[in-house]
Amino acid sequence: MLVGKTGFGPSCKQEDINALMVGLAKQGKRVVRLKGGDPLIFGRAAEELDACAQAQIAVEVIPGITAAQGAAASLGLTLTGRGHARRLQYVTGHARDGHLPDDIDWKALADTATTTAIYMPTRTLADLVGKALAEGLNPATPAIAVARATRPDQQAVHAPIGDLPRKLAAAELPGPVLVMLGRTIGRPDAGAVRAARRQRG
Ligand SMILES: C[S@@+](CC[C@H](N)C(=O)[O-])C[C@H]1O[C@@H](n2cnc3c(N)ncnc32)[C@H](O)[C@@H]1O
Repeated sequence: MLVGKTGFGPSCKQEDINALMVGLAKQGKRVVRLKGGDPLIFGRAAEELDACAQAQIAVEVIPGITAAQGAAASLGLTLTGRGHARRLQYVTGHARDGHLPDDIDWKALADTATTTAIYMPTRTLADLVGKALAEGLNPATPAIAVARATRPDQQAVHAPIGDLPRKLAAAELPGPVLVMLGRTIGRPDAGAVRAARRQRG
């Protein structure tokens, strides 16, 4: 049963998904709730776990590979390059109301020794970057937007973070997009995996 959410498109309501899972499990069925990436990263899993707990349904969570890890692996990027990053953070660009969250830690985004992965960035990236630059983020910080990471049709746009919103908007990449920024994104050896892939065909 397809209950997936398509960014800003028609989606199943979370309460209906919870009710469906609980209803099927109560019929004695073994229910698999399959999600993209890791189910516990920006996946509303807590609401589903709570609904199951309330209904006294036993749950097992199988970890997955979150988009940042998948994108990093397929691009040959380390997110914690020694000497480049001592911290890695996942940030959402999308609050409950679809706007930029108003409680982002801007100083942490501007920290030069941090790698940041921004999930759901497409609508709010220009605003997010504008605020982070005002809080001290260096506009020359290397950044990349990756669409459909790990899929055969993966595409990426590289630019310093100050230019990325404009370049990403112009590229109109289809599918889910993740933005990553930080000194480690600009490491000269990044891209080795891409080159090896191209050679393999
Ligand atoms: C609701 S969050 C779910 C994240 C997911 N649970 C994970 O761990 O990757 C959806 C966002 O994840 C990111 N995302 C998920 N899959 C992606 C992919 N294959 N390529 C790029 N970004 C992806 C995008 O930022 C997308 O808007």
